[in-house]
Amino acid sequence: MTALAVEGLVHAFGGLRALDGLSLAAEVGERLVILGPNGAGKTTLFNCITGVLPINAGAVYLDGRLISKRPPNELVHLGMARTFQKNNLFNNLTVEENIHLAIAARKPYRLQMLKSLRSYAEIRRETDELLGQWELGQHRDVPVHSLSYGEQRLLEFLLALASKPRILLLDEPTSGMSPAETAQTAEVIRQLPRSVTLLVIEHDMDVVFSIADRLTVLHHGEVMLSGTPDEVRNSELVREIYFGGAARADA
Ligand SMILES: Nc1ncnc2c1ncn2[C@@H]1O[C@H](COP(=O)(O)OP(=O)(O)OP(=O)(O)O)[C@@H](O)[C@H]1O
Ligand SMILES: [Mg+2]
Repeated sequence: MTALAVEGLVHAFGGLRALDGLSLAAEVGERLVILGPNGAGKTTLFNCITGVLPINAGAVYLDGRLISKRPPNELVHLGMARTFQKNNLFNNLTVEENIHLAIAARKPYRLQMLKSLRSYAEIRRETDELLGQWELGQHRDVPVHSLSYGEQRLLEFLLALASKPRILLLDEPTSGMSPAETAQTAEVIRQLPRSVTLLVIEHDMDVVFSIADRLTVLHHGEVMLSGTPDEVRNSELVREIYFGGAARADA
């Protein structure tokens, strides 16, 4: 079953068509990795799928339902979550408070302004569950600005999971991380349940090939190639345009 379908997507920044009639699809539970050189349109694609940027033409379907033109907060309720290429956290709040807010944002009921989110048993339980699972528990009362960069990225990932998404879009989840943090993040991604469909923009080829079921390579806002990891690895065209020739043929 198709989880996400993008058809003929166009987004222009002035005269520049960052997405130029792009189409792709991901099956339920699939791990689709999006590759492409800088400026290929990868982040713009995520922004259009998640309703952050308007589309000029084309359509986006989630579970067969047309979702283009819906605002991001509605898409969260439909089961879509994402992380950003750059962190998007409340830096002066603690790890726990950031998680509380992410969980509260998904609740269908109205929360009372002056009541601490911690006093809601359900929010407390979900927070404990997330923190226990992903090794950030020891930093629970630490303000976000005191975390290492890699820990902040991990927290952002955790916040995306707090909305219990059915489809998760990760924009360069390991960028700026140490090798150890990169390995940890790749492991966390691999452990996500197969009920979650994943779209991941990633440049680290070890991570790419350790998580991908399928890869789609973008170039100038269009899909240049889609295929299995082996098909993409062995493509001459991809080597030339993306890996920079034979130098990265072993990637
Ligand atoms: N806000 C903006 N205003 C104008 N042009 C933009 C804007 N955002 C992106 N672009 C342009 O659109 C094109 C696609 O950018 P995008 O950020 O989607 O690329 P990307 O594939 O994510 O690149 P990277 O690997 O560097 O993150 C680029 O030419 C970029 O310069
Ligand atoms: Mg980008």
